[in-house]
Amino acid sequence: MGIVQDTYDMTGRVAIITGAARGLGKAAATLLADVGAHVVIVDNRAELAAATAAELRAAGYSADSAEVDVSKRLEVDALVADVLARHGRLDVMINNAGIITESGPLDVTEDELDRVHAVNFRGVVYGSQAAARAMIPKRKGSIINITSGAVDAPTPFMIAYATAKAAAAQFSRSLAAELGPHQVRVNTVAPGWVDTPMNERHVLREDGTVDPERKAAYVAQRSKMSVMGIPGEPNDQAFAMLYLASDAAKFVTGQVLRPNGGVSMLW
Ligand SMILES: NC(=O)c1ccc[n+]([C@@H]2O[C@H](COP(=O)([O-])OP(=O)(O)OC[C@H]3O[C@@H](n4cnc5c(N)ncnc54)[C@H](O)[C@@H]3O)[C@@H](O)[C@H]2O)c1
Repeated sequence: MGIVQDTYDMTGRVAIITGAARGLGKAAATLLADVGAHVVIVDNRAELAAATAAELRAAGYSADSAEVDVSKRLEVDALVADVLARHGRLDVMINNAGIITESGPLDVTEDELDRVHAVNFRGVVYGSQAAARAMIPKRKGSIINITSGAVDAPTPFMIAYATAKAAAAQFSRSLAAELGPHQVRVNTVAPGWVDTPMNERHVLREDGTVDPERKAAYVAQRSKMSVMGIPGEPNDQAFAMLYLASDAAKFVTGQVLRPNGGVSMLW
């Protein structure tokens, strides 16, 4: 193999990806599996997670799934303990699971703050801590936390989401400093807008199905947000995660990657 293939090869490595039943997490799991890693598809939607893992196995990859609510510390700790018991190692932890609500700063409710911060912030803390405990003794590992372009600018809406993501970003930088001497890397990916099931909430009919006309108009409107004028695709984020997970990024820690079509230049 050449240097590029060698550097990206993850044969024999083990990766946990949370929120990987669909969307960006599924895309990242697929790329990691494609370079040889065993991937653990973690989600609180157990059936969808099992179906995603089965789909990957049918494509010839090594994958299994686990039902975990990332906002429950005991469940996250048990997940990592189980992966260590079965595989003896954890090389990559991608804390990707996330939820969103719409309220702005003046009307955000206590319930929204509790629910969104539990998943988007505390879930990242629990996943990172459990992974760090597994990686420190091996003196190697990559933790990747998924934040959002929402941390880069004031948002008049989705404030529970943006503040939880900002907290996750700050936690990640602090953890990177703490884990550097242990050779464990911590980085974040801050995606721009991507067409995933999460964003279909804006274009649903009353019966819960997607309205194709409204969706096309919505995608066109969101595409104009970037200087490139095109919509983001899940693999645009997944390749950033693959890079940070791989040995190509062995000297990269405490960083933020922003695959967003240049939108951050406009803010
Ligand atoms: N799609 C975008 O435009 C966009 C932009 C910026 C950031 N992000 C972030 O990227 C990540 C993935 O987003 P997506 O668009 O793929 O969303 P998605 O809704 O399509 O997928 C998220 C997955 O997380 C799972 N999940 C939710 N709560 C969970 C919990 N408590 N425990 C375990 N799993 C849970 C869901 O079941 C789902 O499978 C999220 O953190 C999101 O905030 C997405």
